[in-house]
Amino acid sequence: MNQSLTLTMPLDMHLHLRDGEMLGLVAPLSSYTFSGALIMPNLVPPVKTLADIREYSQRIIAAMESDDFEPYMTLFYQNYSRDFLIGVQDAITAIKLYPSGVTTNSEGGISAFDIESMRETLETMSELGIVLCVHGETNGFVMDREAEFMSVYEMLAVNFPKLKIVMEHITTAQAVEMLDKYDNLYATITVHHLMITLDDVAGGMLRPHLFCKPIAKRPEDRDALLNLALNAHPKVMFGSDSAPHPRHAKESCGCGAGVFTAPIALQLLCEVFDAHGKLDNLQAFVSDNAQRIYGICAEYKEVVLTKQPFIVPQMYGSVVPMRAGETLAWSVSNVD
Ligand code: DOR
Ligand code: ZN
Repeated sequence: MNQSLTLTMPLDMHLHLRDGEMLGLVAPLSSYTFSGALIMPNLVPPVKTLADIREYSQRIIAAMESDDFEPYMTLFYQNYSRDFLIGVQDAITAIKLYPSGVTTNSEGGISAFDIESMRETLETMSELGIVLCVHGETNGFVMDREAEFMSVYEMLAVNFPKLKIVMEHITTAQAVEMLDKYDNLYATITVHHLMITLDDVAGGMLRPHLFCKPIAKRPEDRDALLNLALNAHPKVMFGSDSAPHPRHAKESCGCGAGVFTAPIALQLLCEVFDAHGKLDNLQAFVSDNAQRIYGICAEYKEVVLTKQPFIVPQMYGSVVPMRAGETLAWSVSNVD
């Protein structure tokens, strides 16, 4: 008998679903194996009002092919007033902060971290229990951008000690170190950053489908991330950062940042955790920690994964997934 593993209520705490035709393509792929996901707001234009949230969540629900998937909605950070936040609190789980211009569709983000101008928003979020999710990169040299952002995390953590701050898609040993320095800092980790380094992206032939922000770093950074994830550190959650771009936008001069992993994320996680003899910790990494950190009670779902080869499709619609055409060691064998 093939080895198998049952995961209950897997959650993807960082997901790009886009809109329109792309939403129709990718929403069913996530809702098939996940109980829910934290939905990123970097649409064009970004998700910024209560009406935007309500309408976008309705479009997501219409695009899903199952009714046991919860889209946990986020707003695009700007300095919102206390009254606005009180009015929107029941419709959102978190607010996502992008520094201006650091990644796809982040042009409307924050251009200076001025604590006083952010105070009303961040204090109200602390009081209402709205989580702040942060894309933590400066606009410095590409390999140093995340490490340079650590002083901003410290400033936010110290000034707003009751605010839950999630360092999104961490990629460096410096971010791993920061996690235990402040009680109110948490982190998500993608599956691709557990598997690849910059060498896989650009060490040989350029691999555009592995190009993302933050860019994959050094082997010692990847190993620091692995150490956190494999041991299911209680402040760390899985967030795929699965970010679909059509093939022509990736295989082009001026390749957009984003790795598409949603339909193979659980299979890849099994591969990584199994290779290190840590399958027992995957449930905490992919669900339990997130439920505790966010205080959410996920839709019931049981996903059985089996150690049986799975050939990754070359394309899902217009999008090329990570590991396209390759054989994975684990496959999804049942979803209940
Ligand atoms: O690689 C990335 N792609 N990183 C992000 O922060 C945004 C995302 C996207 O929206 O494509
Ligand atoms: Zn993202």
